[in-house]
Amino acid sequence: MDVYEAIARRRDVRAEFTGKVIDREMLLRILAAAHHAPSVGHSAPWDFVVIQDPATLERMAEHVRVKRREFADSLPPDRAATFDPIKIEGIRESGTGVVVTYDHSRGGEHVLGRHTIADTGLMSVALAIQNLWLAGVAEGVGVGWVSFYDESVLADIAGLPDGVRPIAWLCVGEVSEFAEVPDLERFGWRGRRPLEDSVHWGTYRAEG
Ligand SMILES: Cc1cc2nc3c(=O)[nH]c(=O)nc-3n(C[C@H](O)[C@H](O)[C@H](O)COP(=O)(O)O)c2cc1C
Repeated sequence: MDVYEAIARRRDVRAEFTGKVIDREMLLRILAAAHHAPSVGHSAPWDFVVIQDPATLERMAEHVRVKRREFADSLPPDRAATFDPIKIEGIRESGTGVVVTYDHSRGGEHVLGRHTIADTGLMSVALAIQNLWLAGVAEGVGVGWVSFYDESVLADIAGLPDGVRPIAWLCVGEVSEFAEVPDLERFGWRGRRPLEDSVHWGTYRAEG
C-alpha cells in the first residue's frame, strides 16, 4: 500500500472493531512506526502506555461516558439531536487502549528547535500519532482517537508520573472494514472543508 492510499483509507474507527485483540508483534510494528516520527531536537517526547486489562478499559469507558453526556448537555437542541446517535469511542470493543503521552522535560533543557515555540514538543507527539494511525491502516488495524476525558483522570488510569501529560487515548484493534466516509460527515455533524478554502497563495488573505 502506498502512502497516498493509506492516507485515503484511514478512518477514525469507533464502530467497526471486531473485538479481536491485536497481536503483540503487530502492535509493536505499529508502535515502531510511531516511534520513527520526526520530533523537535530529536527529543522523542512521547511514550505509549498499552492498556488491555478489561477492568481498566471499563473504567476509562465509564469516565468517557460521563464526559460525553456533559458535552451533549452543553449543546443547543438541534445539535444535541444530531450528536445523539454519534458513537465517540470504541474503548471496550477495540480491546486495546494506547495512551500516548508528552514529556516536556525529555531532551533536557536545550531542545534544539524548541526555544522559540514551546508547542513543538506537542506537535511532535501528534506526528507520532499520525504515523501510528497510518501504519495501522497498512496492517488492517483500526485506530480511534478519544479525547472526551479529564487529563487528571487519564493520568491516574495510566499511572503517569507528574509532568507527563496524556495527549490521546487511542482505541487500537482489528476492524471489519474501514468506512469510506467519516462518521461526522455521515451523521451530518460536519462536512469536509474544501481544499481550495484551505490553500492560500501568497498571503492568508489572498483570494484563489
Ligand atoms: C485531536 C483529535 C481528537 C479527537 N477526538 C475524538 C473523540 O473524542 N471521539 C471521536 O469519536 N473522534 C475523535 N476524533 C476523530 C475525529 O472526529 C475524526 O478524525 C474526524 O471526524 C474525521 O474523520 P476521519 O478521521 O475518519 O477522517 C479526534 C481526532 C483528533 C485529531
